[in-house]
Amino acid sequence: MLKQEINELLTQTGPGTPMGDLFRQYWIPALLAEELPEDDCPPVRVKLLSERLIAIRDSDGRYGLMDEFCAHRGVSLWFGRNEESGLRCSYHGWKYDVTGQCVEIPSEPDERHSSLCAKIKLRSYPLVKIGDVLWTYMGDPARTPDLPQWEFTRVPAGQSYTSKRWQECNWLQALEGGIDSSHVSWLHSDGLRSDPLFKDAEGNKYNLADRKPFFEVVESDGGLFIGVRRNAEEGHYYWRITPWVMPAFTMIPPRGDHPIHGHFWIPIDDENCWVFTYDYHPVRPLSAAEVRAMKDGKGVHNEFVPGTYRPLQNKDNDYMMDRAAQKRGETYSGVKGISMQDASLQESMGPIVDRTKERLVSTDSGIIMARRKLWRAVEALRDEGVTPPGVDVTHQAVRSAAVVLPKDQSFIEGCGDALRVRPGEKHASV
Ligand code: FES
Ligand SMILES: [Fe+2]
Repeated sequence: MLKQEINELLTQTGPGTPMGDLFRQYWIPALLAEELPEDDCPPVRVKLLSERLIAIRDSDGRYGLMDEFCAHRGVSLWFGRNEESGLRCSYHGWKYDVTGQCVEIPSEPDERHSSLCAKIKLRSYPLVKIGDVLWTYMGDPARTPDLPQWEFTRVPAGQSYTSKRWQECNWLQALEGGIDSSHVSWLHSDGLRSDPLFKDAEGNKYNLADRKPFFEVVESDGGLFIGVRRNAEEGHYYWRITPWVMPAFTMIPPRGDHPIHGHFWIPIDDENCWVFTYDYHPVRPLSAAEVRAMKDGKGVHNEFVPGTYRPLQNKDNDYMMDRAAQKRGETYSGVKGISMQDASLQESMGPIVDRTKERLVSTDSGIIMARRKLWRAVEALRDEGVTPPGVDVTHQAVRSAAVVLPKDQSFIEGCGDALRVRPGEKHASV
């Protein structure tokens, strides 16, 4: 349970809010690179942390992210013309470069033109392609951190796949689903048996057999390692370890030789978020069948309303609930697909869940510690200007793991280096 003021502190990320200031310390995923596929392609509207922005790729391949609205009289630049190294407003032809600098006001007399242009600059943020993702940093330019180093963006191109989807609820309740490994034994029990990106892993049997997982949470440099233990063979436990790196990165523990996956939960505004979903294998290319399955919405990906990033199963169609499939035992909740199983339940809590009413239990200890850590970091930044965990790129070099360990061994000791990125070495997985 949280006090209402703490719930507001952690869920509000608009400009000037303490949590918004925290998010503005990090490079965060803004768009998929596929959204700006070529020079001079159409501009894309992007809302992040409650700011309405426009993203472009100019004639010279440079990316830019700036205020959506023209400085002249507030027209949306989405209607603009992206041409000749800049974005031109369709109303009176004012033109901006990728930094938001006004470079042309065609209606003004020549003698005033350059001095007037120089004074006009839209708010803008850097936009950088790393892997399949365009990243932005929306904070104070003087504090710009090093570019992110997440392993899924750094492996060779054929080893990684990323999708994104719109989720219609606050970022924090979506994140909390990502660090709550206990729901897997219920909500996703069908997926462990049938999904091509999950099935046939040795570890699945422990997941399905032991529905009373024990949580052990350990602090890491950038956030937490959330260890979840289930019974395995005599004298052993099956451990699944989920890293969370502040504020919004999670990585699901692997299964067999399947690719590893995880999410970034990025606020659009206080009632919506982008879920960026990555899948990668540290040492081998993804197979054609794996990529096909991801594009078809299997694993932790999903199907889309054509031409959009809205899931095909969404709250307007009750996520295509199939009660008959539920009765036949094909799905636990009646909703098909891991990510839509999660999204349907998280969105059902309302846009911002009222955390003053919840009743937390032992399997919520990862969530409790994550909230505490966020809250502490928000206060340290606000009160003393302390850079939060997870900004330092060395904090990002983590991996999830799934291992069987003797009962007397802690997961931190048993996993050792398996929880760190080891380039060229396979992840620890059963
Ligand atoms: S409103 Fe954009 S040029 Fe006039
Ligand atoms: Fe889930």
